[in-house]
Amino acid sequence: MKKLLITLAVILTAATMVAVFYGPAAAKVTGVCSDCHTMHNSQESNSAATGEPLATLLMDDCVGCHSSSDSSTTYPLGSSTVPVVNFTSGAPATYLAGGNFYWVADSGGNDDAKGHNVLGISGVDSLPFAPGGFNCGSNNNCHKSLAEEQDMFAGSGCQGCHLSPAHHADDSATVIGAASSSTDGYYRFLSGHGNGYPHGVCGIENDDWQANYNAGNHNEYLGFSASKTDINSLSYGHTVTAFCCGCHGDFHMEQKNAEWIRHPSDAVIPNTAGSEYANAFEANGTGFGIYDPNVPVARPNFTDFTGPKSTVAIGTDMVMCLSCHRPHGSPFDDLLRWDYGNMLAGGGSNTTGCFACHTKKDTGS
Ligand code: HEC
Ligand code: HEC
Ligand code: HEC
Ligand code: HEC
Ligand code: HEC
Ligand code: HEC
Repeated sequence: MKKLLITLAVILTAATMVAVFYGPAAAKVTGVCSDCHTMHNSQESNSAATGEPLATLLMDDCVGCHSSSDSSTTYPLGSSTVPVVNFTSGAPATYLAGGNFYWVADSGGNDDAKGHNVLGISGVDSLPFAPGGFNCGSNNNCHKSLAEEQDMFAGSGCQGCHLSPAHHADDSATVIGAASSSTDGYYRFLSGHGNGYPHGVCGIENDDWQANYNAGNHNEYLGFSASKTDINSLSYGHTVTAFCCGCHGDFHMEQKNAEWIRHPSDAVIPNTAGSEYANAFEANGTGFGIYDPNVPVARPNFTDFTGPKSTVAIGTDMVMCLSCHRPHGSPFDDLLRWDYGNMLAGGGSNTTGCFACHTKKDTGS
């Protein structure tokens, strides 16, 4: 699989080195209303919805409809296709871009460190609050106690992060969530949670949520190339990093005396000749590497994007939260994309994980 990906990537890059266009995402529900809604929650006097009658007269709740025991990626519902985030029949071998809740689910791997603990999927995490985040108990009293903060994903469930679900909204534009008051539900219906952070994520949505992907076929994420002195600014724009930091406040660009003291997010991968970064994503000093959907980067803007690009522009594109983490869950602690315990310095010639950017830490060359 990996080999095929690399081969494809090489062909794509060699052939064009420019944007590869994939048709506009038709990610809007279609089909008869009764596939998903029930008007009175009654069918021949029996209740129609799963559990209690639900908001917006739905047949099932977010977790129910987005879980499956048959497929770990997508399943058909009438003429719509449901993206699956919680596979219930064992550890999934394949999963969508956000990862999968299987590993954190009480009915699955049941390991709190491997995902965000969402009501209906797993019990409350033992962590006192979002690491790096605010103790929101003392902050405007939104969450009055730590217990309530632990319940961040309980009161609102999935909507702790997907605050603006808009299944019927038109999201046929290439770039989603570009406007401050978007009606398209923002990128994947994600909008910010914390104080001071702007609402709504902007990005390019892959048609099948990366059930299939390669160097030229993937999501695109917006980043904000803050200058190193701008680290305390909250004006991170409509970026994934700003979104994550709405809850994990401190974890982006902290420096002390111009030295990094936390791994930066939204820091440009420097194109400094001779540095390991100039070789990132196999750029080998050319300024352009091969995009790896397993180690995504953020773009400073989408001005000339007609779809996803198959290259990483070294000196322009950025490392960000999702370069290393899967937001729903992963087989690894801290919902990481790779087994951090297996990132061995000087171990060989790995080109993925940390080594995608820190190219000289493995081979030593
Ligand atoms: C009855 C089934 C059903 C229910 C209930 C449901 N969804 Fe969905 N959801 C879908 C389908 C179908 C899609 C795919 C629509 C499309 O093609 O974009 C989808 C897509 C999504 C997406 C991806 C959006 C994108 O841009 O691709 C998110 C995020 C999402 N749903 C979150 C939620 C949340 C949060 C809830 C609860 C408020 C919820 N869903 C309830 C069926 C459902
Ligand atoms: C594939 C599943 C699906 C189908 C088919 C579907 N809906 Fe929905 N609809 C949803 C989901 C999920 C929500 C709740 C989350 C949201 O608002 O995005 C929703 C929300 C709504 C809402 C409230 C929010 C809004 O956008 O106004 C209305 C009204 C609605 N649907 C009407 C309809 C009607 C009428 C039909 C048939 C013509 C229909 N739906 C077909 C999944 C579906
Ligand atoms: C901690 C925040 C967070 C929580 C909680 C969360 N999501 Fe997501 N979700 C995300 C992010 C971020 C993405 C975008 C991932 C990407 O594109 O790389 C996403 C993507 C998605 C997608 C698109 C498929 C994919 O994997 O990219 C669906 C559908 C979805 N979420 C549904 C849900 C449902 C249903 C729940 C509750 C069971 C939920 N999410 C809980 C952050 C969250
Ligand atoms: C709505 C608030 C919220 C948002 C937004 C959010 N998180 Fe979290 N996150 C939490 C809370 C609360 C915890 C601790 C409880 C848990 O793991 O469910 C947590 C835990 C974590 C953990 C540690 C997991 C563990 O259990 O050890 C990681 C890693 C993480 N988040 C990464 C992210 C990333 C990356 C994003 C952005 C895609 C993000 N979070 C967005 C609230 C949030
Ligand atoms: C370069 C990779 C990388 C990036 C980028 C990154 N993280 Fe992490 N993160 C890790 C690793 C590795 C860990 C495991 C613990 C450690 O080594 O510090 C971790 C741990 C965490 C934890 C758990 C901390 C705890 O106390 O248990 C949270 C929360 C988290 N990251 C959130 C974020 C957020 C939010 C962003 C973006 C602002 C982000 N991470 C960006 C690699 C990264
Ligand atoms: C997508 C690219 C990317 C990935 C993946 C990545 N990093 Fe980084 N890393 C960077 C960038 C960019 C910087 C900041 C470079 C600069 O401007 O000084 C950085 C800085 C660092 C630093 C501080 C270096 C210094 O000069 O102070 C360490 C240590 C580090 N990364 C470790 C890791 C580890 C461990 C992993 C894997 C968990 C990882 N990184 C994954 C891009 C990445």
